[in-house]
Amino acid sequence: MNIERSPEVLTSSREIASTIDRLAAVIRRDYLGKEPLLLGILKGSFMFMADLIRRLDFPLEVEFVRLSSYGRGTESSGRISVVQGLRSVVRNRDVLVVEDIIDTGLTVAYLLGYLRKKKPASLRLCALLDKPARRKTAVHIDYLGITIPDRFVVGYGLDFDEKFRNLPDLCILED
Ligand code: PRP
Repeated sequence: MNIERSPEVLTSSREIASTIDRLAAVIRRDYLGKEPLLLGILKGSFMFMADLIRRLDFPLEVEFVRLSSYGRGTESSGRISVVQGLRSVVRNRDVLVVEDIIDTGLTVAYLLGYLRKKKPASLRLCALLDKPARRKTAVHIDYLGITIPDRFVVGYGLDFDEKFRNLPDLCILED
């Protein structure tokens, strides 16, 4: 994709911001006084996590794991590799997994299964984007931003071959 040739914007940075305002208001209501652990999945979620936690005005912790499912193509490989594992204690914590996009669902299903075994006090999922057309395993999203069509999207932290993460808008990658 040639980003100098105005990529097709699917969701503008302004729409993303108002979506995160809405999510943060509900998360604030649900977690106020609980000191949750917000657990982001790298790399894609870094921008969403940064914007989300700036809207949460109560004590919380931030942690990341790095999982990978795509390799270098546009199709999820279906094999999840743990690039950097979890360092925080999860037992008895209120854990909120923060993810940029749920596509096949395999990445987050893998992580939620792993976390459940560690006996958190509560375990919920917040995802900015949902692409249900591609789902291979059922995933319950507790806090959902935007449902998107079955197009390959980049920007706002999401990449193709490690590029385009820096685009402020969510854009459609042309064929
Ligand atoms: C992307 C995205 C999600 C996952 C969603 O990550 O950030 O973590 O794929 O796909 P799934 O629902 O089909 O599992 P990717 O593996 O590309 O790594 P990245 O976040 O480092 O770009």
